[in-house]
Amino acid sequence: MLSDRFGRSIDYLRVSVTDRCDLRCTYCMPKDYKGYEDPPDWLTFSEIERVVAAFARLGTARVRLTGGEPLTRRHIPQLASRLSSLPGIRDLSLSTNGTRLARYAEALKAAGVHRVNVSLDTLDRDCMASITGRDCLPLVLQGLQAAKAAGLAPIKINMVAMRGVNDADIDAMAAFCIEQRFMLRLIEVMPMGATGQNAAYLNLAPVQARLAAKFGLKPQALELGGGPARYWATADGQASIGYITPLSQHFCASCNRVRLSVDGTLYLCLGQEQQYPLRPLLRGGASDAELEQAIRDAIELKPREHDFHRQPDKIVRFMSQTGG
Ligand code: GTP
Ligand code: 5AD
Ligand code: SF4
Repeated sequence: MLSDRFGRSIDYLRVSVTDRCDLRCTYCMPKDYKGYEDPPDWLTFSEIERVVAAFARLGTARVRLTGGEPLTRRHIPQLASRLSSLPGIRDLSLSTNGTRLARYAEALKAAGVHRVNVSLDTLDRDCMASITGRDCLPLVLQGLQAAKAAGLAPIKINMVAMRGVNDADIDAMAAFCIEQRFMLRLIEVMPMGATGQNAAYLNLAPVQARLAAKFGLKPQALELGGGPARYWATADGQASIGYITPLSQHFCASCNRVRLSVDGTLYLCLGQEQQYPLRPLLRGGASDAELEQAIRDAIELKPREHDFHRQPDKIVRFMSQTGG
């Protein structure tokens, strides 16, 4: 098992398969962003598989495919199939904006993807268009139903809650998700890149209390999914709402993850700059043992915590480069 300098076990790898996206969520990417990496710099599926296999040998059990929007890269079910067959990988998931989910849900399920997390910030079509830059609400709702029909479960909905933008929609989103048995997660916006810094931060602590009273929710001890969310469940235990609160109650002490970007760089923390380039090893003939040692060396660089709260303008890369 990989373990860092602070005694945390690292068993969750997030793999960004592209930095491209068909949306431009205000908190994530600038509207006119075109500065993409060239595809020759992108890891191939074989290179990604090799890195994931090395992590799996070192004890990693959970892998999440992210982007940008992962489903904008061609043949993602093929990659998923290769990763889900690797010994040791027992939780393969995908974070998506949902626009292409109707097309891909069944193929993803067949490829061994267990579950999907879908971004949806509002049920108001105009508000959705103004956040994402595209009139895509109907498409995303179709995608969600397709994911449900395909048996991808649980389905989590990621709602980045922003003051004056979609905070008035929180209760409607909670009611919709409880009814549909989607697990809503309310997320505090993080100051990543210029876009995240400009977004209207909303502290979720008061929202937690309000929704608890309205929907009869109680904090759940159980950890669901291995991520940073803390969950509150209805009395019958059938539905729950999660809170991802990097600013008001950060969760770095139990961090279990690192990120691989599409150009083959390992990022050791979402809110810090420490990184380790693996592409030169992959393309320079390194052995599996050398790759594993490089991963161990990289984990040594993992910092104790982010400092978004102390230095909100520190991280200049966009969220889409590391996939959240
Ligand atoms: P589960 O395995 O389902 O729990 O996934 P997850 O919540 O870790 O992944 P997802 O891609 O759905 O991310 C949801 C939100 O959590 C996004 O806003 C991510 O940026 C944020 N997030 C995920 N991991 C971290 C982390 O290590 N640190 C911080 N600060 N935020 C994170
Ligand atoms: N702060 C918090 N969450 C963000 N996401 C994208 N940008 C930000 C940000 N600045 C979320 C998206 C997606 C997840 C992978 O990351 O909503 O659901
Ligand atoms: Fe695309 Fe996701 Fe970023 Fe929105 S949050 S622009 S859907 S990568």
